[in-house]
Amino acid sequence: MLWTAGLCLLWASSILGAPANKQRQKVLLISFDGFRWDYDRDVDTPNLDKMAKDGVKALYVTPPYLTVTSPSHFTLLTGRYIENHGVIHNMWFNTTTTEKKPYYQTQFVNEWWDNGTLPIWITAQRQGLKAGSLHFPGTASSYQGQVAMVREVEPLLYNYKNETAWRENADKVMGWFRDEGLDFVSLYFGEPDGTGHRHGPDSPQRREMVKQVDRTVGYIRHSAEQHGLTDRLNIIITSDHGMSTVYRKGLVEEITLFKIPGFSFSDVSFHLVDYGPSGMLLPKPGKLEKVYNALKGGHPHLHVYKKEEMPECLHFSKNDRILPIILWADAGYLINGYFPVQFNKGEHGFNNQEMDMKAFFRAVGPSFHKNLEVGPFETVNIYPLMCHILGIQPEVNDGHLNATRRMLVTSAATQAADVNSLPNVFTGLAAVAGFLVVVFIVMTSHKVLKNKRQRKRSGSSEPLPEKEMSKQTSL
Ligand SMILES: *[C@@H]1O[C@H](CO)[C@@H](O)[C@H](O)[C@H]1NC(C)=O
Ligand SMILES: *[C@@H]1O[C@H](CO)[C@@H](O)[C@H](O)[C@H]1NC(C)=O
Ligand SMILES: *[C@@H]1O[C@H](CO)[C@@H](O)[C@H](O)[C@H]1NC(C)=O
Ligand SMILES: *[C@@H]1O[C@H](CO)[C@@H](O)[C@H](O)[C@H]1NC(C)=O
Ligand SMILES: [Zn+2]
Repeated sequence: MLWTAGLCLLWASSILGAPANKQRQKVLLISFDGFRWDYDRDVDTPNLDKMAKDGVKALYVTPPYLTVTSPSHFTLLTGRYIENHGVIHNMWFNTTTTEKKPYYQTQFVNEWWDNGTLPIWITAQRQGLKAGSLHFPGTASSYQGQVAMVREVEPLLYNYKNETAWRENADKVMGWFRDEGLDFVSLYFGEPDGTGHRHGPDSPQRREMVKQVDRTVGYIRHSAEQHGLTDRLNIIITSDHGMSTVYRKGLVEEITLFKIPGFSFSDVSFHLVDYGPSGMLLPKPGKLEKVYNALKGGHPHLHVYKKEEMPECLHFSKNDRILPIILWADAGYLINGYFPVQFNKGEHGFNNQEMDMKAFFRAVGPSFHKNLEVGPFETVNIYPLMCHILGIQPEVNDGHLNATRRMLVTSAATQAADVNSLPNVFTGLAAVAGFLVVVFIVMTSHKVLKNKRQRKRSGSSEPLPEKEMSKQTSL
């Protein structure tokens, strides 16, 4: 009886976050760039399998459109669709000067990233937590003048495939959690994207790289253990997009805008093409209809949209940075300008409804259920999940905890109540106070009855045995 009451109280206090037995939960968000949802199906992945057994696995997750690296990673950090966070492309561009900056240089264009939406590092720090980031897209920029308090940006010519460096980075991040008291870290690995591009998603090279990812996942979990973090650290592993095999000339007719009858580059003042399967055009004044009508139906696998007519489910329309005409190609096709200049065997950037664009998702740690497989969800929902585990108030975002709540163990699923709303704390405290009163009454009457019985048996009134006393005081 007393024992049961004790357990109940322990449970009650853990829900309320009593400092005695609850430490703040930490979150490590890891992205393996371009890890398609099904990459573990044709490779032996003992460590990913073990992680699924010890935690949660989603069938797949749906990245935002445009399915490219920087925009999709910024969605992970903000929970906003791309049209809402403003990082609409891997490349910064200026339609007036026609200047463009490639992926790496764009990392350092502050105004591109800091467009009104705060990444989780800044939000966490503003609420008293400590955040860090290693190589995650967006790390180099500042946001309303603030940066992640511990951060590392890779140099220009970085070898994204080096497994030894991967391990060093994993250990470094664990050190940040343990020695610098960080609560949240985002960690980025540039593979298997690079290998998927170069050799294609069905290549033996891609399968080898997935084995390297798997070994690294094992290493990361081992390192967390070595650093004494397993009881506090939640590890979420996901990706920014998948990868699709590119069809080549001879097999299909490629999409080359220059060859489409009625279309002329002299009618556009700025274009962003030759960048995978997507493109954007800014027609010259008065030329929008002409350009649109020429391209629409110009190739059976080319989709042409006016910005404001984009399918709403893609959430890629309502932003000043998005150009008036948007092009995208069916899976397997690329959009070329004057002639093909893209030679990758694998590409991404396709419609996010294509199965090839779906990414993987795994999570393990004290906040997550074990051995649970869940259905698919959109990656905008990862942000509110992380905020919830960290106990911080999220910024306005496009995700919802509903999508992932099922993954959380009960205490974690209800934690937000005490962190995010004070009235709930008082309700909770009142409930526990009431509960304590009931327990006290029950225990006292129990004790009285027991003593009565004992007195009946032995004729004496002994005090409670030592063991029971100590259990009572430990409550
Ligand atoms: C683009 O360049 C023009 C001319 O230098 C400048 O006036 C404008 O502010 C730039 N726009 C952006 C978004 O950088
Ligand atoms: C976002 O960037 C656009 C230019 O690309 C600019 O006009 C706008 O003011 C920016 N918004 C914020 C909130 O920074
Ligand atoms: C891989 O990384 C390790 C550790 O940073 C470094 O010593 C080594 O030279 C790197 N190897 C290659 C091939 O880049
Ligand atoms: C979340 O789930 C609750 C309960 O099922 C429901 O009332 C609410 O509308 C859902 N919210 C969203 C945004 O899905
Ligand atoms: Zn990517």
